[in-house]
Amino acid sequence: MSRQKILIDTDPGVDDALAIHMAFADPRLDVVGLTTVFGNVHTYQATRNARHLVEMAGLVVPVAHGAEKPYQQAQRDPAHFIHGAEGFGDLPAPDPQRPADPRSAARFICDMADEHGEDLILCPIGPLTNLAHALDLDANLQNKIGGVVLMGGAVTVPGNVNAFAEANIHNDPHAAEMVFAAGWDVRIIGLDVTEQILCTSQHLEDIALGAPGIGGFLRDVSAFYVRFYQDSRSFDGCCLHDPAAVIAITDPDWFSYETAPVKVVLDGEGLGDTQIVDDSSRPHVRFATACRHEEIRDHFIATLKSTDQRLVER
Ligand code: RIB
Ligand code: CA
Repeated sequence: MSRQKILIDTDPGVDDALAIHMAFADPRLDVVGLTTVFGNVHTYQATRNARHLVEMAGLVVPVAHGAEKPYQQAQRDPAHFIHGAEGFGDLPAPDPQRPADPRSAARFICDMADEHGEDLILCPIGPLTNLAHALDLDANLQNKIGGVVLMGGAVTVPGNVNAFAEANIHNDPHAAEMVFAAGWDVRIIGLDVTEQILCTSQHLEDIALGAPGIGGFLRDVSAFYVRFYQDSRSFDGCCLHDPAAVIAITDPDWFSYETAPVKVVLDGEGLGDTQIVDDSSRPHVRFATACRHEEIRDHFIATLKSTDQRLVER
């Protein structure tokens, strides 16, 4: 069976960690690299955390350090109040041993596009800054790869930073606008669907029971994230934002989409809003409007329950 090659661009981050370990554990996926960006944490923390996730999984997957600030706007503070001071909830900073890849994230993305071409899907689950810089490095990048499946945006629903904007787009709206306008095959997995995909504390306990090593780590890093949901939404669990983008690659039939040009608001109180526009000069993108959230959640749980066993088999 040939595995789908994906490159995950990420700001780990609790739900990023959930998504990355789920991707590592899914036998249908070949993760060719992780590239890092600011957002939930500073980029140096994202790179360190991503290297730790790779080492835990017993893999040799390159991690390339990415942009440390947005494409154009001023940098915001990381979301430590949601993901913890080091990005892994209450856990201290990890100390991975293997160094990062010497290339910048943007360079690495371009190199992977040259190496794998249409076999490669980019899966950004943080701000889109590295993809914007990669488009600057290679004016033909959008024609080389198989597509982009990203977590970000809120096309038909309110944002989670404010009434308008979702966090990944709000953290770098100019980069997102470049990505949406570039003319490649973009699928947006936004809050429109990810807020329906819910995982409870008990599900995280179940994952830890099935896979005490990696599952136990994910249960522990998620505790702080779950407290945010308990305090802000009275929900004992969390949304599976970032895992949803990975599952949209492996199980596309569980999502349904509308197709339209989508632009990003670049000023005013709606900064970072993702809006459908009636503009025939812009490329169309697909944005998810519905999903089979129970199947998606159950697949997430089952895949992560198997992760320790897969580590033994590797
Ligand atoms: O809005 C959800 C997104 O922002 C996810 O990528 C999550 O990691 C957060 O930073
Ligand atoms: Ca993220």
